[in-house]
Amino acid sequence: MSNRHRLAILGASGHGKVVADIALHAGWRDLVFYDDAWPERTRHEHWEIKGTLPMLLNDLPNFEGVVVAIGHNAIREAKLDALLTQGARIVSLVHPRATVSPMARLGPGCVVMAGAIINAFAELGMGTIVNSAATVDHDCRLGACVHVAPGANVAGDVEIGRTSWIGAGAVVRQGVAIGEAVMVGAGAAVVSDIDGNQVVAGVPARPLASAQDDDDTPPSGSNVLRFDLISPQGRS
Ligand SMILES: CC(C)(COP(=O)(O)OP(=O)(O)OC[C@H]1O[C@@H](n2cnc3c(N)ncnc32)[C@H](O)[C@@H]1OP(=O)(O)O)[C@@H](O)C(=O)NCCC(=O)NCCS
Repeated sequence: MSNRHRLAILGASGHGKVVADIALHAGWRDLVFYDDAWPERTRHEHWEIKGTLPMLLNDLPNFEGVVVAIGHNAIREAKLDALLTQGARIVSLVHPRATVSPMARLGPGCVVMAGAIINAFAELGMGTIVNSAATVDHDCRLGACVHVAPGANVAGDVEIGRTSWIGAGAVVRQGVAIGEAVMVGAGAAVVSDIDGNQVVAGVPARPLASAQDDDDTPPSGSNVLRFDLISPQGRS
């Protein structure tokens, strides 16, 4: 059987539903979910859940592409690393009503949602999510598995470390550097550099608590930015 237009989605979550919707808009035809909740769960809305990650690793030749739809940044990074090690063809998905500059660079496994804008010479590491109506402006450098939540605005020339999360509606001032595994609260205004592994919130953003013991603390190693140029349709 041909694997043409068949996409495997790891992560049968709410985020997975949005990823599936974008995949259909982007021209993928046959979607199959994998999730470690299998066999307790075998359906995700009207899609089949076919097995767990180890089963997906065996099934890779059956798919033209694979995407990881897990919202937790560090877990998404670990699953992407496992899939890439096994030679999976990780693809990025860009909603047709997102605007991605042809001069921007997206790593594999990025998801860009409806209404998002990624401007010229921005660089997004693998597995980064730019959520609905969020913007990432010129010359930004986002590490692996960053998440820019709905409606957040990242101004030009901002650096964001891997697995950091910019909360819904937050604003980041141009030229600011944010470390790894930072959680920026919803509605915050980040106006100066933020060290890694902390939660910040408010206007201007100030530390709320240490994120050292948080679940989202990234695993050691694999802090490389990976880039593949993709077309605006999201196929690498
Ligand atoms: C910042 C955040 C991570 C803190 O979560 P938390 O550690 O569970 O914090 P709590 O809800 O216990 O709140 C702790 C304190 O911080 C305050 N606070 C929480 N979030 C805040 C925010 N975004 N801005 C300002 N203050 C905030 C609370 O009012 C509380 O203050 P208090 O101690 O005076 O009562 C979370 O509130 C947040 O903003 N998450 C982003 C959500 C988001 O963007 N989702 C998008 C999904 S795609």
